[in-house]
Amino acid sequence: MNKNGKISASMMCSSFDILSDTIHLFEEENIDYLHIDVMDGNFVTNIGYGTSYVEFIRSVTDIPLDIHLMITNPKDKLTWFGLQPSDIVSLHVESCKDIKTVVERVKSYGCKCTVAINPVTPVDVLEEIYLTADGVNILHVTPGFAGQKAVEGTMEKTGDVIDKINELKLTDYIIETDGNITFERAKILREMGVNMFVAGSSSIFKGDISEYRENIRKLRESIM
Ligand code: DX5
Ligand code: ZN
Repeated sequence: MNKNGKISASMMCSSFDILSDTIHLFEEENIDYLHIDVMDGNFVTNIGYGTSYVEFIRSVTDIPLDIHLMITNPKDKLTWFGLQPSDIVSLHVESCKDIKTVVERVKSYGCKCTVAINPVTPVDVLEEIYLTADGVNILHVTPGFAGQKAVEGTMEKTGDVIDKINELKLTDYIIETDGNITFERAKILREMGVNMFVAGSSSIFKGDISEYRENIRKLRESIM
């Protein structure tokens, strides 16, 4: 990870009628990743952005994907997404009985694998996986929907995870936060050591597409 924070644009916040224009704008603004929330209606109470959506996005842009798998039993579904070495895959620790095996399987595609953790899940479940994963994705909202407010205590929880990462001397580790990452929260999180920010309706997707460039500039300023 370079010294500046990276922006992972939450594509569930982009309306379909302007999806291609939005992606083109993100290419011009050098957005680092497109965050794809894959939801199966089982692991989370929403369904969306499945295999054909991922296929379409890959067909229209070279921006790397940050694929957030909110699905049960991801181990048997990894072949569905045409995984590329440039991808990051975020696996929920709550969705895998054998998280280490699944992380290793994701990495066998050449991509980076982060482990996502819900607001209610205690951080010690990550103990067994820090050294195998390439990073973490700390959810600040209960995943599945954009536009929610951050769950109380998620800032402190992020600090606890970062302390552990520093204690383990894990350099070049992806430290991502996802959910209600406002400009203000992003600034604080960057100062704590977060280096990847899921940017949704709380930041770059505020207002309409005419405001996105200014929103991106503002977020970049917060995460320098
Ligand atoms: C939450 C999703 C996000 C995110 C969207 O399930 O993973 O992509 O919340 O951004 P906000 O929270 O800012 O609308
Ligand atoms: Zn997400």
